[in-house]
Amino acid sequence: MLTIVEAVQGDITKQDVDAIVNAANSALLAGAGVCGAIHKAAGPQLEEECRALGGCPTGEARITKGYNLVARNVIHTVGPVWHGGTQNEPTLLRNCYENSLRLATGHKLKSIAFPAISTGIFGYPFELAAQAAADTVRAFVKQPSSLELVRFVCFSEKDYEGYRGILASPRV
Ligand code: APR
Repeated sequence: MLTIVEAVQGDITKQDVDAIVNAANSALLAGAGVCGAIHKAAGPQLEEECRALGGCPTGEARITKGYNLVARNVIHTVGPVWHGGTQNEPTLLRNCYENSLRLATGHKLKSIAFPAISTGIFGYPFELAAQAAADTVRAFVKQPSSLELVRFVCFSEKDYEGYRGILASPRV
């Protein structure tokens, strides 16, 4: 079955999907940005479950329940901090997307929504990050999996236009 890969503009905490992805910190604690918004919307039980996981290295992913979110699960992944591209940031960012998708298919999830990981507080240039995200997702969904929908949720209109442009190009 073909997997739909799409971009929308909106708030990831409102997405009705099997899993939303959290741009987490390595301690997996409620921070600021999209992470803070997800923890706030999910309620305190999310941080309780996260604490028991004992952290997550950059590029890896962990899954929890969604609690008060519409989304049934949260996949927490830790993006790289941008240091000018000299510290393996592209590979680490691709790992975030790939490991999140692997975790989703391992749990037989059908739909997943990603924020633009690392492009806020962690400073990764948006265009580079979005291209890497689109390339990784498109390569992944060429293989058979449980996923029917992969959605990029863009907070700003500018980011949404950026993703739309990238997804409209036939690259990969
Ligand atoms: N829905 C969708 N996207 C959002 C939302 C939201 N509710 N809130 C913020 N964003 C977008 C930002 O506009 C940005 O494009 O998510 C993207 C990622 O930004 P950050 O949340 O700053 O994530 P990141 O750059 O990966 O930094 C992670 O920030 O909050 C802390 O604990 C987190 O330490 C970690 C770091």
